[in-house]
Amino acid sequence: MNQKMQKNKLLYIVTFGCQMNDNDTERMKGLLSKVGYQDTDSPDGADLIILNTCSVRDKAEQKLYSAVGRFKKQKQAKPSLIICIAGCVAEQQGEELIKRIEHLDMVVGTNNVHKLPALIKEFEEQKNRSKNSIVATGFTDKIEGDEYGYLADSSTSMPAKTSASVSIMRGCDNYCSYCIVPYVRGPEVSRSPDDIINEVQSLANSGVREITLVGQNVNSYNPLLTDETDDECSFTSLLKKVAGISKIERIRFVTSHPKDITDELIALFGSEPKLARHLHLPLQSGSDKVLGLMKRGYSVAEYTEKLERIKTLYPDMSITTDIIVGFPGESADDFNATMDILDKINFDNIFSFMYSKRPGTEAESFSNQLPLEIKQERLQRLQAAQKDIAAKKSASLVGTKMPVLIEGRSKNSDDELTGRTSCNRVVNFRASKDSSPIGLEGSVMNVLITDAYANSLKGSLQTERSV
Ligand code: 5AD
Ligand code: SF4
Repeated sequence: MNQKMQKNKLLYIVTFGCQMNDNDTERMKGLLSKVGYQDTDSPDGADLIILNTCSVRDKAEQKLYSAVGRFKKQKQAKPSLIICIAGCVAEQQGEELIKRIEHLDMVVGTNNVHKLPALIKEFEEQKNRSKNSIVATGFTDKIEGDEYGYLADSSTSMPAKTSASVSIMRGCDNYCSYCIVPYVRGPEVSRSPDDIINEVQSLANSGVREITLVGQNVNSYNPLLTDETDDECSFTSLLKKVAGISKIERIRFVTSHPKDITDELIALFGSEPKLARHLHLPLQSGSDKVLGLMKRGYSVAEYTEKLERIKTLYPDMSITTDIIVGFPGESADDFNATMDILDKINFDNIFSFMYSKRPGTEAESFSNQLPLEIKQERLQRLQAAQKDIAAKKSASLVGTKMPVLIEGRSKNSDDELTGRTSCNRVVNFRASKDSSPIGLEGSVMNVLITDAYANSLKGSLQTERSV
């Protein structure tokens, strides 16, 4: 049967992990909606269940096994239900997952997401033959024009949103010694600037006002020149092109690598008002010895010099980071050096993790792995110190007026609308139950900050629109 004829099948996706997986999930929803799958937020009655998985740390990987176990009975009760594992664990384990999980039908790796509709068709056609599973893994060194962009396709039934992410590249060539990403997402490949701009333009036409450009390492964006007339396009040039789209009000990007932040990019924050005042710059450790073992390619002094320069130029810039504690060989002094950096830089927020041994990575074979108790104790100390820093930072925003891009009604209260500041903080503010957010949604309004909480701010809407 023509897949376009099938209507109202139900799709349920569980997403683990990072911004790349979130983007892949949106892409899957968009392209499956074209072949009759409607996205739902409950597994009950689903015809297709996809687990979009993460393997960056062991804990994330274990979550998959308990999640997939929950659907065994559902599959027994409804044999036509298709269960698919996608994402990083799919890429890493491939066929092994089929052997290990009896009720699993499909495994779709990170470079094969765009083939999902065709793979489902193939699976349904072969179901009555001896082979009853599909495994699609392996990397490609080029991104074809039709692999992305499903979010923006007007023929899908995706709802309009205020913010959306657009993938500009996939994979990573850095091979930090602890990290599994290069092995599960493949070599770094950039999308063509024209494809990206077309996608952003379509999103803007459908009501999106804030774009987050995502990639494992966006600063090394470097598309292949397909013919002689193509101009080179650096990441900064790409940002300028996106900023040229009139309906886009704000641009964010994640994740940046400290070694690839250029002076050109730093200067762009000064000349391009659409660029949000937020930089996520993973430090990982405050010790040069550990950074060397991690193969990060910068020193603590180089990192802090760049950040101090950025903070001097743009005092309102919010800076967030990732930190790993308990890397093999991290001494008490090394860890204290990380604690010192926290005090020195005053990050707005940190994402901190205990080092987790990942299969196939260089650090897996390092001999001086640390015991769990030391890792736990260090993580706890780090997080406690950061909690105080973040509380002081948030409190300092009370009394200021901040432009907020309004996203809609707050999940927690019918009386409030919610949005984000340029520096990426969630702000909730009162708006009567009867007043529809339509009209305000998607616009940037000034909000006077009245209270600061651990994960959000509260404010009162000012009458004037921010420009
Ligand atoms: N163990 C702990 N944390 C890790 N990260 C990546 N690999 C590991 C690992 N093996 C963290 C890094 C990275 C973030 C996305 O996840 O801090 O920046
Ligand atoms: Fe992993 Fe390092 Fe690549 Fe980030 S830059 S994805 S930490 S290998």
